[in-house]
Amino acid sequence: MLEKIQETAAFLSERMHTNPETAIILGTGLGSLVHEITEKYEINYKDIPNFPVSTVEGHSGKLIFGKLGNKDIMAMQGRFHFYEGYSMKEVTFPVRVMRELGIKTLFVSNASGGTNPTFDVGDLMIITDHINFFPEHPLRGKNIEYGPRFPDMSHAYSKELIQKAMEIAKEKNIKVQHGVYLGTQGPTFETPSEYKMFHTLGADAVGMSTVPEVIVANHCGIKVFGISVITDLGVIGKIVEVSHEEVQKAADAAQPKMTEIMRELINRA
Ligand code: HPA
Repeated sequence: MLEKIQETAAFLSERMHTNPETAIILGTGLGSLVHEITEKYEINYKDIPNFPVSTVEGHSGKLIFGKLGNKDIMAMQGRFHFYEGYSMKEVTFPVRVMRELGIKTLFVSNASGGTNPTFDVGDLMIITDHINFFPEHPLRGKNIEYGPRFPDMSHAYSKELIQKAMEIAKEKNIKVQHGVYLGTQGPTFETPSEYKMFHTLGADAVGMSTVPEVIVANHCGIKVFGISVITDLGVIGKIVEVSHEEVQKAADAAQPKMTEIMRELINRA
């Protein structure tokens, strides 16, 4: 496992012209940030040794190196989901490669269903904490000595970055919610009873990604900031049929706000 990670990192190092300390997983709602990356150098996942290949609609797969504002960054366009059939080791492989490449801070975005009754479709939610509801743990198995066998998760999302993001949202007059993201395997959206259960368990939003990558980033000592766009509501009385297309549509509508916060936060971080 470690050899594979190091082999991939060595392959990328040979091709990189920069040494970014910032990585971004361009999840749902953040796709357009890619257009703001300058001095781009792109590598398709399929050309990277040991990299899994993304299959889901709307997620093309490549690594992009370049500048966002005046920061050197590395971005993943397309992520790997557990529901696609990848193992947790595969889902989180790129984060471990990031660690080998010297990444210090990871920015992630996703789409989720709001279970908090005060949320609306199109809201942004800064993730303050998560609940891991995946059936397999990404750190299961022999511990890679990037971190301890039993890693602390009391600050999975950087308090400092949450604070900065709140300030930016306020300055820019962008409404943001904050709350707990529950990650579950999908690929079904939740039944009304499941949304209710997740809310009872402490979730403000539920989605099918992010938690594995965030756990591994924390294990590797990488600081994390996460933001979620609420694309549908899992709140009794407000539940309607959801489809991937509707999720995309709501996320696209919220994209400019999310992009603005992320761009500014990455520059100030
Ligand atoms: N549930 C799980 N994942 C999601 C949802 C949802 O309601 N909306 C967007 N991703």
